[in-house]
This record gives sequence, C-alpha cells and structure tokens, in this order.
Amino acid sequence: MPGRGTRLEPTTSSTEEHTITSAASLAYAEDFLSEDDHLAAGRRRAEEVGIVPVSTGAGAALQFLAGAVQARNVVEVGTGTGVSGLALLRGMQPDGVLTSVDLEAEHQRLARQTFSEAGIAPQRFRLIAGSALDVMPRLTDAAYDLVFVDGEKVEYGEYFDQALRLVRPGGVMVFDNALWHDRVADPSQRDPETAAIRALLASVSTDDRLRSLLLPLGDGLLAAQLIG
Ligand SMILES: C[S@@+](CC[C@H](N)C(=O)[O-])C[C@H]1O[C@@H](n2cnc3c(N)ncnc32)[C@H](O)[C@@H]1O
Repeated sequence: MPGRGTRLEPTTSSTEEHTITSAASLAYAEDFLSEDDHLAAGRRRAEEVGIVPVSTGAGAALQFLAGAVQARNVVEVGTGTGVSGLALLRGMQPDGVLTSVDLEAEHQRLARQTFSEAGIAPQRFRLIAGSALDVMPRLTDAAYDLVFVDGEKVEYGEYFDQALRLVRPGGVMVFDNALWHDRVADPSQRDPETAAIRALLASVSTDDRLRSLLLPLGDGLLAAQLIG
C-alpha cells in the first residue's frame, strides 16, 4: 500500500475496472442534489457578468465540508456572485462568518444580493474588494476552519502558501478547477494556468502535513486537511 505523500501516477490498467468513465455517471453524481432558487439566481448573475461559478456537485461538496469541520471561520478567494459562498454559508455553523475576497466590487455587490435574498444575515459575511495576494497576508494565522480558492489560476501556488498559514490544525483547504477543463490530465497542455495547477497538485499530494483528495466534481475539486 502506498503511504501518505506517495503520488500515484494515473494509470489506465489496474484501476480501469473501478473507474467511472461514463459521462452519464459523472452527470448523475453532479446532479445528485438539486439547487434551490437562490443558488439559481446566483448562477444567473454569474452568467450576466461572464464568470463561471462552482458546479452543483462542487457546491454540494463545499457545503458538506464546511459542515464536516463545523466551520465558524472561512476564507474564500473569488467571491464571484456568491454561488460557492452561499453553499459554504449553509454548511457553516449558524454564527459562522465567511470572509470573501474578490478584485471586482461589482461581483461582490451581486454576491451580497444573492446572500441577502437567501436570508443570510449581513453579519455572517465580510466581503473584501482587493487582490487575493494583497488581502490574504493580512488575515490571521491558523484562525480559519476552511479556505476555499477559486481566484486567479496562475496564483494557486501562492494561495496554497497562504492557505497553509491560515488554516487551523484539522482545518481544510479546497481548490476549484483542479482538473482545469481536462487540461491537467493531458500532458500536451503546458499553458501557465495548467502548469500552475499541476504544480499545486504535486505540492499537495506530497506534503506530509496534509491528508488530501482530488474529486472529479465540476472542473475538479482538490481538498486537503491540515493534519492536527
Ligand atoms: C470563477 S469566479 C468565482 C466564482 C465563485 N467562487 C462562485 O462559485 O460563485 C472567479 C472570481 O475571482 C475573481 N478574481 C480573479 N483574480 C483575482 C485575484 N487576483 N484576487 C481576487 N479575486 C480575483 C474574479 O473577479 C471572479 O469574480
């Protein structure tokens, strides 16, 4: 049995019979839980401003993980129009606070609308307009139960360094787009975003401080727990 920190290269032989290859099964898992009108409204706003929110399955995973770690303090990079934020807030403890960072104040205005229409009290979210790499270093060490990253892909390595500092022992960090439009698994793709995400996956999968998992939901969700 490979130990923690051992990186398994993808194979097409030994795992084949245990691997879901049908798009229908992936779609079934993705839509296992349905979304309500508030998440749908957040998605409509995202389309209006031309950004792509987390998938339905990825949102369900975020809600689940926030609940599993009984999250009270969460950092999000890439507020967008609030689809992932609403999933996180719903999984968090009832008095939990989401601190969410985005370069675009307009996206955050729409996220605020998504949260308030869904009945989330204003004291439960703190939206900070700015660049993630300016804001994250100002947040307190080991004060967060969960850090969720959905910002600029070429900066994922730097977000990882910050997440390691921000997450408390036992807390979790989660990165969206970990399979980046099927490009990560295709060795012929070497664009800067794909390379940055591959480097992140290599760092996370070999870091003995972390217990990690790569989920094929949406565009790929990488989750890692800081071992307490
Ligand atoms: C894919 S969207 C986020 C979607 C959101 N997580 C959701 O599921 O609803 C990415 C967001 O990251 C923001 N962004 C891009 N680069 C950023 C940076 N360097 N710092 C902070 N936010 C950034 C964009 O403005 C955009 O709103």
